[in-house]
Amino acid sequence: MKILFYTPQADAVAWLHDFAQALPGAELREWQPGDNAPADFAIVWRPPRELFAPRAGLRAVFNLGAGVDAILALENEQPGTLPRDALLVRLEDGGMAQQMVEYTTHAVLRYLRRFDEYAELQTKRRWEPLEPHPRRTFTVGVLGLGVLGTQVARAIASLGVPVRGYSMNPKQIEGVKTYAGAAQFDAFLTDAKMIVNLLPHTPDTHDVLNARVFSKLARGAYLVNVARGPHLVEADLLDALASGQIAAATLDVFRQEPLPADHPFWTHPRITITPHTSAETLRDESVAQIAEKIAALSRGETIGGVIEIERGY
Ligand code: NAP
Ligand code: GLV
Repeated sequence: MKILFYTPQADAVAWLHDFAQALPGAELREWQPGDNAPADFAIVWRPPRELFAPRAGLRAVFNLGAGVDAILALENEQPGTLPRDALLVRLEDGGMAQQMVEYTTHAVLRYLRRFDEYAELQTKRRWEPLEPHPRRTFTVGVLGLGVLGTQVARAIASLGVPVRGYSMNPKQIEGVKTYAGAAQFDAFLTDAKMIVNLLPHTPDTHDVLNARVFSKLARGAYLVNVARGPHLVEADLLDALASGQIAAATLDVFRQEPLPADHPFWTHPRITITPHTSAETLRDESVAQIAEKIAALSRGETIGGVIEIERGY
């Protein structure tokens, strides 16, 4: 079995070592420009278009992350880039849900309990108890109820605040009021005090966090974007922060990454920035998951996490 590997990151050697351990007998090679020799499987993160040059025998492309937007962008820019007879497969959880739960519940508690405002008061040596946010109206809306969003919605509900969830198709999640499809989007948004974005980036969800959406939320709402930068219309967030419609935002992802040094978000007093680390790909879990899926495909079984290319996720 021939396996092609590519990551632009510095740790390719460690990945190849771990895949070699998990897939004894497989011929693993790191993709180099000009390599279009046959391969059965490709395991990639942010691959260049050239990696998809016609190649005999390719059965599946495994993405070393949950979001496949970087790969689908290659296809959208130049239709026909992706081999149509190979599956495109994403990571399913692989330890990312726990990290997302930690990140998002931290943000909910920080805003619910007004920790940022107390930190600001401390810089002024001011002893000033603030009016608590009423828990019963601190409604948190989770956009995207997939592998990650479902666990995040459940964890936030366990904090005792009302939780809504939004997805493409109807869902039932205990403790979460669910909404599905464009027709229910406004009802999902109306008067929410906080929104947490865990949608995939697709043509339908591009720019989804915009002025219209912010205007539907409760005044002084909070935004957490842990999905993708192009979901957010950055100028609309700055305007909503200036008007007070949005009170504060926690952002892990940006239209341009790394965020340019002169970007206004860096110095905004009510924006918290993390460098696309809300849920990192964990090597042990990812290697085990992909090795299991390769074994399943080799036995002729079906696997989860297969992307519907036309749908975009
Ligand atoms: P997933 O399992 O594919 O879930 C996607 C969810 O979004 C599904 O519930 C889907 O609805 C919903 N959805 C998709 N398009 C929609 C639309 N147009 N309208 C309404 N709902 C829509 O994905 P996941 O594994 O949870 O990951 C979600 C995203 O998180 C990834 O795509 C990635 O961009 C991001 N992510 C970020 C980081 C980070 O470090 N910042 C790490 C991991 C992942 P249905 O369930 O009805 O299909
Ligand atoms: C990270 O952003 C991922 O999509 O896994």
